[in-house]
Amino acid sequence: MGTITSKLNKRVLLTGGSGFIASHILDALLEDGRFQVVVTARSDEKGKKLVDSVKPHNISYVVVEDIAKEDAFDQVFKSQPPFRYVIHTASPYHLDVQDPVKDFLAPAVNGTTGLLKSIKAHGPTVKRVVITSSSAAILNPDKHEPVYNENFWAPVTEEDAIRDPAKNAYRASKVRVWPCCDAGPRADDA
Ligand SMILES: NC(=O)c1ccc[n+]([C@@H]2O[C@H](COP(=O)([O-])OP(=O)(O)OC[C@H]3O[C@@H](n4cnc5c(N)ncnc54)[C@H](OP(=O)(O)O)[C@@H]3O)[C@@H](O)[C@H]2O)c1
Repeated sequence: MGTITSKLNKRVLLTGGSGFIASHILDALLEDGRFQVVVTARSDEKGKKLVDSVKPHNISYVVVEDIAKEDAFDQVFKSQPPFRYVIHTASPYHLDVQDPVKDFLAPAVNGTTGLLKSIKAHGPTVKRVVITSSSAAILNPDKHEPVYNENFWAPVTEEDAIRDPAKNAYRASKVRVWPCCDAGPRADDA
């Protein structure tokens, strides 16, 4: 009984569960043993495959087909409460850029702002949110700094992404996300 209660207190939502980084986070959460994990996947097929892949561990999934859509995460918080932690890894990371805005910027930015809005509206128990950024958000390969720190941002804009998608779409998507996260109060340590 004590274990079930404490696991409920440590319920984690992991977005983009089928992804590379998420698979390592999931391993760490399950190995730790204190967390009850719910992942998001883009389809039932991917969700079921993920659930089966970690057996005998017991996780569940919710389908979020496209994080760029408005209110994409609302149903997650309504159907699977209560979450204490949210780890947001769902974001495009590939080299096949057709449309930099639709394929990269919209899911990265709308996905993150949408998630934060859903938490605010429907996730009152959430104490901490982790969002995966990237060194791509700060590095300037054309003129590297001797040392990078939190004051640096990659000098890349949405226009740069449209002009040269292969080089800039992913970088711009990571830079553009940050202002969404930087607004508002931070959660207390929990
Ligand atoms: N891999 C690295 O070395 C690295 C380094 C630094 C930062 N990061 C960051 O870590 C995060 C995860 O990267 P990753 O390497 O794990 O990438 P990944 O393997 O491609 O995983 C991305 C996840 O996001 C999901 N996703 C992408 N677009 C989506 C959309 N529009 N709607 C719903 N789900 C969507 C993918 O689902 P599907 O697979 O079903 O499309 C997948 O589950 C990203 O924020 C990335 O910027 C990665």
